[in-house]
Amino acid sequence: MDNTKDKLPKHIAIIMDGNGTWAKKRGLSRNLGHRKGVQTLINTIKYCQQIGIEYLTVFAFSTENWSRPKEEVDYLMKLPEQFLETYRKTMCDNGVRFRVIGRKDNLKADLLKKIKELEIETEENNNIHFTLAFDYGGKDEIVNAAKKIAIDVKENKIKLEDLDENLFYHYLYTKDLPMVDLLIRTSNQIRISNFMLWQIAYSELYFTDTLWPDFRRRDLDKAIDEYQKRNRRFGGL
Ligand code: IPE
Ligand code: IPE
Ligand code: MG
Repeated sequence: MDNTKDKLPKHIAIIMDGNGTWAKKRGLSRNLGHRKGVQTLINTIKYCQQIGIEYLTVFAFSTENWSRPKEEVDYLMKLPEQFLETYRKTMCDNGVRFRVIGRKDNLKADLLKKIKELEIETEENNNIHFTLAFDYGGKDEIVNAAKKIAIDVKENKIKLEDLDENLFYHYLYTKDLPMVDLLIRTSNQIRISNFMLWQIAYSELYFTDTLWPDFRRRDLDKAIDEYQKRNRRFGGL
């Protein structure tokens, strides 16, 4: 892996998949797989920070995941709090800028409060921008942006003629994040599952069999190695 700053992907996004499969293989409950996944996430943030990744965005709960059994949804809803309890201080102390993207209307008030507080507390941090996509859906994000744009046009805040890709981007949940350079999905599922549809327009895609709880530094190194071999053309020559 070439650690030179301009060779590294600036923004890595990860679809953290395979927690349930990992647990099943061990005869454990799916929820234990999710718990193990949180530890993997913490290790991954640390490692990304060490090697100089500027933006890391991970998919933790999709707008479609509400259709899972109630017991699993309830557990997944508690995970951000567990994650924050374990890792909050480290983020504050180590320059991690924390954000959550997604719908907020179905999350519990006390979780929203904790998220908001930490977002504000880490506002000045810029060692790594870590973003948790929680109750996030790419299609939802785009519809939500379209609605906000319609309102702003109606209220004369923007002119329809001025709407272009850049202005549209400002209405997405990710307005403060750059486009994704490298998208990684674990657990051998070759699909996007409604993650960051706009932001991955020109991402390099990397799929691995490794289940998320088994994902280690060497797996990230392999993904970055592969990324560095790709010829990114953006439609040019
Ligand atoms: C990813 O693991 C975590 C979430 C989607 C919340 P899964 O729970 O999807 O694990 P598999 O795909 O069933 O193995
Ligand atoms: C995508 O994984 C969502 C997250 C990792 C949070 P899923 O396991 O929900 O996706 P599908 O159902 O396999 O497409
Ligand atoms: Mg899955």
